[in-house]
Amino acid sequence: MPNKDVFEFKNVTKSFGHGKDVTVAVKNLDLAIKDQEIVTVVGGSACGKSVFGKLLLGLLKPTQGELLFRGEPIGDQIEHWQEVQMVFQDPFTCFNQFLPIRRQLEASFGVFKGKKPSAKEIKRRVDEGLMAVNMKPQEIEDKYPFELSGGQMQRMLLARIFALRPKVLVADEPTSMVDACVRAGILDYLLKLKDELDMTIVFITHDIGLAYYVSDRIFIMHDGEVVEAGDPDQVAFSPKNPHTIQLLEDIPEIHREWIQR
Ligand SMILES: Nc1ncnc2c1ncn2[C@@H]1O[C@H](COP(=O)(O)OP(=O)(O)O)[C@@H](O)[C@H]1O
Ligand SMILES: [Mg+2]
Repeated sequence: MPNKDVFEFKNVTKSFGHGKDVTVAVKNLDLAIKDQEIVTVVGGSACGKSVFGKLLLGLLKPTQGELLFRGEPIGDQIEHWQEVQMVFQDPFTCFNQFLPIRRQLEASFGVFKGKKPSAKEIKRRVDEGLMAVNMKPQEIEDKYPFELSGGQMQRMLLARIFALRPKVLVADEPTSMVDACVRAGILDYLLKLKDELDMTIVFITHDIGLAYYVSDRIFIMHDGEVVEAGDPDQVAFSPKNPHTIQLLEDIPEIHREWIQR
């Protein structure tokens, strides 16, 4: 049922290092993400966005406070990943460089262990995933990751998500390396898939314009803290926090960057 919390942060802090070398990446987070909601975490560089995503994946554990997934602390990592998957910011670190694309995508079903779909179904879903990101399976399946561009790699990560169909997707700058036209197509496909699968999506981005376009709710992050939260209209048209106002003022800049890319 919608409206139940998928994730609940209870005063979560994550820091790295000790003493005078301590970096507090996220600080005193108190928030919940509801089932089937699309939330976007928006903020500038190094404000803690990727750490937030890695906490959701269970890749990092809170230093203080408690993070609950469907009411329980995150336990077995593999079981967690059957439901929660992430598209990482840097696609090059996510693939085995020595395995061709199709074998790689098929191997990612290993996360389902005993509950894996049949080989035929896996093949069908990989085909579907590749086509969803505008790639012809025959043209890409035998390639190795090092033969692909950044944008193509990012599309492979998304193809993987479309094939695996997780209940929760955490997408960290998922289309930063693809051109604007492909990007709009991918976002639309993601939103369509979201409806089909009743997925919960957590987008992570520096682009408040993107957040406005896709989200039910936006969290503005600054220096590891959520400084403003609300629905897109509220955040975009009656911003209260100076950092939100700054992000809104930066929009044309970001779009200029896009055009130049
Ligand atoms: N594994 C780590 N070890 C030490 N510091 C880290 C680690 N991961 C992130 N940080 C620090 O935490 C802060 C937030 O990082 P991050 O979440 O990656 O920022 P961004 O908002 O750009 O994604 C940064 O100061 C970063 O240097
Ligand atoms: Mg990041």
